[in-house]
Amino acid sequence: MFKIVEKRPLAENIWLLRVEAPRVAQSALPGQFVIVRVDEQGERVPLTIADFDPADGTVTIVIQTIGVSTRKMCALAEGDCLADFAGPLGNPSEFVKMSSEELRDRRYLFVAGGVGTAPVYPQVKWLHEHGVAADVIIGAKTESMLIYTDEMAAVADNLYIATDDGSRGFKGMVTGKIKELIETEGKHYDECVAIGPMIMMKFVTLTTREYSLPTTVSLNALMVDGTGMCGACRVSVDGRMLFTCVDGPEFDGHKVDFDEAMRRQSMYRSHEAQANEKHKCDCYGK
Ligand code: NAD
Ligand code: FES
Repeated sequence: MFKIVEKRPLAENIWLLRVEAPRVAQSALPGQFVIVRVDEQGERVPLTIADFDPADGTVTIVIQTIGVSTRKMCALAEGDCLADFAGPLGNPSEFVKMSSEELRDRRYLFVAGGVGTAPVYPQVKWLHEHGVAADVIIGAKTESMLIYTDEMAAVADNLYIATDDGSRGFKGMVTGKIKELIETEGKHYDECVAIGPMIMMKFVTLTTREYSLPTTVSLNALMVDGTGMCGACRVSVDGRMLFTCVDGPEFDGHKVDFDEAMRRQSMYRSHEAQANEKHKCDCYGK
């Protein structure tokens, strides 16, 4: 069992949980994920690691309540336990394998969308700790939905905020801010890393393609076993079928078939809606 040592709200329906998981914290690297089960009956929910601390043996995850399992997870209190916390899974970000010479002059642009901002943080933090420059754009629908802005400001070279309604920072989507940085401000980047909703990652890759800017995306495919056995997380990359759990979760965004990935992601939406309805009825005794 894995004890929740800290729980706090970050925005509406978005919670941070810091979990006691010393073995995962010892070996985690930026870019990796965990698969969490709230109880013996719970579905396996893949969540990209938002922070880890080998010294105190904790791993931080950020959860948006969208289905029955995430709702149950966010209903737990500090001191309660999660049944399973398997990880670290997947491959770390490419840059952790690069030498300090290779990294020294590289400039990164991170594009973080909504809840996807949390998994961007350990990557920017790692680069900051290794003296590598990284600019970050955080996009959200509105100011109250922004998360991790203070944490990110502490590790980013430049932090840019974009809100769809203009309530804070740039008014518009993250893609508009990318264009502004490159075309108006004359910024140059060697690599873009985009993490957020699938539709955002699709449009970020279409935008960066215009500037021939190599772009990495982190896919949040549906997963079951997380070990390459079930095929649930398959994705087409450059015409090849790959598994997000063992070949990813990060891929060359210019080669991902996003339309297929989005179709696969929505396959179980009606089942999810039914499960949500049943959960509400069970909870309210109807
Ligand atoms: P959101 O819908 O509020 O979008 C965040 C930002 O993405 C927007 O403010 C906008 O700037 C940008 N964006 C959205 N659509 C765009 C488009 N068509 N073109 C250009 N930019 C666009 O985000 P949310 O509600 O927090 O998203 C939740 C989704 O993120 C869930 O589906 C969840 O599964 C996914 N997610 C992904 C990861 C990952 O690892 N990739 C991690 C956490 C959550
Ligand atoms: Fe089963 Fe990836 S989750 S193959």
